[in-house]
Amino acid sequence: MAEKVFKRTLVTSALPYANGDIHLGHLAGAYLPADMYVRYLRLRGEDVLYICGSDEYGVPITLTAEKLGITPKELVDRNHAAIRDSFAGFGMSFDNFSQTSRAIHTETSQEFFRDMHTQGLFVQKSTEQFYSPSLGRFLSDRYIEGTCPVCGHEGARGDECEQCTSTFNPTDLKDPRSVLDNKPLELRPTTHWFLPMGDWQPKLEKFIASHPEWKDNVRQYCRGYFEAGLKDRAITRDLDWGVPVPLPDHEGKVFYVWFDAPIGYISSTREWAQAQGDPEAWKTWWQSDDTRLIHFIGKDNIFFHAMMFPAVLMAHSGDWVLPENVPANEFLNLEGQKLSTSKGFAVWLPEYLAKFAADPLRYTLARNLPETRDMNFTWEGFQARNNSELGNNFGNLINRVFKFTGKYFDGVVPEWSDAMMTDLDRKALADVEALLEQWAGHMERFEFKAAVDVAFQAGKVGNGYFDEAAPFTTRKSDMARCGHSLGVSVQILRVLCLMLAPVTPFAMEKLWAWLGMESDLWRGGWDEGTRSIPGGRRLGESEILFPRLDDEVIQPEIERLQGLLGTDGQA
Ligand code: MF3
Ligand code: ZN
Repeated sequence: MAEKVFKRTLVTSALPYANGDIHLGHLAGAYLPADMYVRYLRLRGEDVLYICGSDEYGVPITLTAEKLGITPKELVDRNHAAIRDSFAGFGMSFDNFSQTSRAIHTETSQEFFRDMHTQGLFVQKSTEQFYSPSLGRFLSDRYIEGTCPVCGHEGARGDECEQCTSTFNPTDLKDPRSVLDNKPLELRPTTHWFLPMGDWQPKLEKFIASHPEWKDNVRQYCRGYFEAGLKDRAITRDLDWGVPVPLPDHEGKVFYVWFDAPIGYISSTREWAQAQGDPEAWKTWWQSDDTRLIHFIGKDNIFFHAMMFPAVLMAHSGDWVLPENVPANEFLNLEGQKLSTSKGFAVWLPEYLAKFAADPLRYTLARNLPETRDMNFTWEGFQARNNSELGNNFGNLINRVFKFTGKYFDGVVPEWSDAMMTDLDRKALADVEALLEQWAGHMERFEFKAAVDVAFQAGKVGNGYFDEAAPFTTRKSDMARCGHSLGVSVQILRVLCLMLAPVTPFAMEKLWAWLGMESDLWRGGWDEGTRSIPGGRRLGESEILFPRLDDEVIQPEIERLQGLLGTDGQA
C-alpha cells in the first residue's frame, strides 16, 4: 500500500484542567514535546495548526469554587487566564487556546451528542446515587465523606480511604455525609446515558492494529483494555456545572467531562477559524482525510484519546479525521519523588517563570523527557544542564564566533571558500550536516530526547572544530585562514540554530536575527537555514544567550522541596 500523503498536520495537547497551575509534570508530558514538534514542522514550512484550551468542567472544579466561595465560572476564568499566561511565558506556541465553558463548545459538544443520540448509539440505564435532601441535588464521589467500611476511619472520601488506602464505591461508606454541609445523604434512583464501548471494540481494534508505529506503551495499554473487553461508559452526570444534556426532561444533567473535553479540540479549532474570519476553515482540519491529527498526552489520558474519542469520531455521522498518532509520555518525578500537588511537592510554572528564563527549563525537560519510562527532574541537574550544556557547549561557541568576528572582522562574515577548505573544515561541515539529518529523523518520529542529544553532539563538533582550527592562533600568522575558519564556524552556528530552535526558541530567535537571516524562522526557516551564509554579510551584535545559574539561586529551590518532605523522606 502506498504511504498516505498528508497535506497538513493538526496537533493537540491535552486540555489542562482549569483547577490550578501548570507544573513541570504537565510540561514534560503533553506540552513541551508538542510545542517542539509544532515548531519543527513550522521550521520545515509545513501547514500546521496547534490547538489547545482549558478543560473547565468536572467535580474538582465545583468543589474548589465552593471552598473559595466563588462561582465555578469565576474560578475557571481566573485559572484559564493564569494558565494561558504562564504557557505563553514558557513559549507554548498555540494557534488557539480556548475554554470548554464557552458557548461554541456547548454548541459543538451538544451537536455530537444529538447526532449520536438520534442514531440510537447511546443506552440509558438506571442506577442508585447519593442525593442530598438538604441541598436538593445528587452528589458524586468527591462530594461524599463517611466512615471507612474497612478500618472505621471517619473521614473517608467517597471512593477511597486515605487512612488504610482501600478503594470502594460511595455506597459502601457508613454514615455517608455531604462534604458541603456535613448533612446525611440518601440513595435515590437516577438515570444516565452510556456509550456502549463494546459495540466499537472491533473497529477500534482494527484501527489500533493499523498503527504498528505507535509507541509501545500506548499499544500495550490498549491491548489490556481490549483483552478485558470494553465496557459501557457513562457520559452524563447529575451536576449543575457542565454542558447540559440537550434533551427534554434532563434538568440537572450534564455531560461527563471526558465526553465533552476531547470535543473541545474541535470547538477550539472552530473558534480559531472564526477569528481568522473564515468560520468554515475548521472543516479542512477535521474533515478531510489528508489531515494528520496528532494528540500529545500524558499516559493517564491514553484510554480517552486512543479509544473513547476515536469511537465518538467514528460514531458521529460526519466524516472525521482519526488520530494518526497519540504520543503519550510517562510521568516525571521530582528530586526522586512522585509529584504531589495536594502537598505542594511540585514546581509550578508561574513561580519558576518569576525567577528564571523559559529556555533552560525547556532544554532540561527535553533532556529528561519521560518518553519511554518515568524520568526525574532535579534542580542540581537543571543547574548542570544550564551551565555546562547551554552555557559551556552552545553559548560558548556562539559567543566565541561572534566576539571574534566582531573584534577582528568588524562584525562581517569573513570570506570563506571551497578553495580554502582543509580536511578539518570539510569534516566539521559534513559532520554537522549529517547530524542535522539525524536530528530531523528523530523529530519526525517523536524522539525528542534523542533529537536534543544530536543537537548537543553538533555543539561539541562545533567547539572541537573551533579549538582545532584555532582562529585565535592563525589571526597572528594568516588572517585569510583565520577568516575562513570563522566563516566555516558561522555555517555551524546556522545549523545549530535550526536544531535548537524548537527546544530553546527564545534564544534561537535572537541567534537567527544576529545571523542576518531574512526569512521568518517559523515559516519555513529551514530553506534559508540550510543555505550557506556568504562572506561579506554583516552580523548582528550578540549577547550572552544562556547566563550561568549560581548556587545562590538554585539552593533555595532545593531547600523548599526538602522542607516538604516528611521525616521519612517522603513527600
Ligand atoms: N484535563 C485532562 C487532564 O488534565 C485532559 C483532558 S484532554 C481532553 O488529564 F482531550 F479531554 F481534552
Ligand atoms: Zn480505611
